[in-house]
Parts: sequence; structure tokens; C-alpha cells
Amino acid sequence: MNAAASPTPADLVITPRDRRFGRDAAARRWWLEGDPYGSAVYNALSATFPLGEAFFVESVRAFRDGADPRLAAEIKAFTTQEVMHSREHVVFNRQAEAAGYDLSRLEERVKARLAEVRTKPPIIRLAITMALEHYTAILAHQLLADPRHLAKAEPEAAGLWRWHSIEEIEHKGVAYDTWLHATRDWPRFKRWAVKARVMTIVTRNFLVERTRGALDLLAQDGITGPRAWIGLFAHAFVRPGMFRKVFGGWASFFLPGFHPWNHDNRHLIEG
Ligand SMILES: [Fe+2]
Ligand SMILES: [Fe+2]
Repeated sequence: MNAAASPTPADLVITPRDRRFGRDAAARRWWLEGDPYGSAVYNALSATFPLGEAFFVESVRAFRDGADPRLAAEIKAFTTQEVMHSREHVVFNRQAEAAGYDLSRLEERVKARLAEVRTKPPIIRLAITMALEHYTAILAHQLLADPRHLAKAEPEAAGLWRWHSIEEIEHKGVAYDTWLHATRDWPRFKRWAVKARVMTIVTRNFLVERTRGALDLLAQDGITGPRAWIGLFAHAFVRPGMFRKVFGGWASFFLPGFHPWNHDNRHLIEG
């Protein structure tokens, strides 16, 4: 991929910020507004990060050969950022365990999913990464654009999620540009067809598996059945309604000519 052909802003600098969170904070079960549902959604997501982000890194780096110097530098910075995110989410996850949660089933499901996707060809693994990086980018955008999401969170936890969100926005074009580079000889329709199909499957698995994870955590709080489902649904789609709000961003992925940087949201990460 010729860097000049990518909508990634020419003056974008990906800056890994080596931050640490929650080392001295007391473990708290419902760290988000004292709300079991919101805490379960974020905890279920966090349980996937250490293994998931390692997979993203290996999937992108498999295609760095022949990348122009700019993309090569972006892949390097992306790698550093993701490795640090994993390090901090390991701490966050251990805090959840210290607060009494058993994350082992959630982590086993991530391992099983990754074992399955590692049987796929490298280009499909890159497409899966690109789809999940789009998820992290649209969730990160919403988290930073609307301060209410984390307004009543424990300060160290809020700091972790804001920091992670900033860096996800900053590197949101890296997997995509690597995909454009890796598929530079493909016809446009084939590119679109593969990425649309992969996004559809990833969406189904992401929603089903994260919901299962959140329900598992809620069951550990003694919240089961319709109460758990209604609480989760209300958190995700009504208030604060993260998944309702990211729908437009998610759908934009299917538009011809889509690129993460067609939407320049750097105002959220400056300063
Ligand atoms: Fe990350
Ligand atoms: Fe990322």
C-alpha cells in the first residue's frame, strides 16, 4: 500500500504512553457506579484483552514484509501500545479476581475461540483483527465522546479505560492499512466481500460471547434469568446505551470506500 493513498492523516503520530493503573487501588466488585451490569460488561471485555490483543499483534505483524516505512513504523507503535494495554488489563483482571470473580471460564472461551481462528489463513486472521479493531475504535470513540460512560467509575479504572480508548483511536487505521497493503493485488469487490463476511461473523461471535461472559459474571453476583438479561440489555441499548450509539459507526464499515480515518476524531485524544 502506498501511504499517500491511505486516508490515515499524514501528520498522525502514534505515541505509546507507558502508563500504569490500579496498582494501589482496593479491589471493588462493582467499580462502575456501583452497577453490576455496567461493571459486568466492561469486566467481560477486559477478560478478552490480554489474549486477544496478542492475537491482533501477531496477525498484523505477519504482513509487515514489504510495508512502506511509514506503515512499518505504525505497526511497531501499534505493537507497543497493544502490549502495554494487555499488561494493564492483566492487572485489572487480577483486581476483578481479588474482588471475588472467577474469570477462568471467560478466559477459557477466549482461548478456545483463538485456537479456532488460528486454524484460518493469515489473511483471514488479519481481517478478523481489522474487524475487532473497528469495534475497539467505535467503542473507544463513544467512551471518550460522552463523559457519562465513565463519570461515576472508580478513578483508576476510569483512567485505564480512557487511556486505552485514546490509544485505540490513535492506532485505529493500522490494521486497516495493513489489510490494504496485504490485499493490494485483490480486486475491489473481493476485498469488500471478504471483509464484510468476516465482520458479520465477528459481530455475531463478539455479541454472543461477550454476553455470555457478562452473564457468567452476573451469575456470580447472584443475578440470573430475566433480571440479568434485562439489566444487560438496558445498559447496552438504553442507558448509557453504548451499543445503540455505536451502531452507525459499525454499519459504516460496510460502505464502499470505508476507512477508519474517513472519520477524523482526533479532537477526542488531543491534550
Ligand atoms: Fe488495545
Ligand atoms: Fe487496538
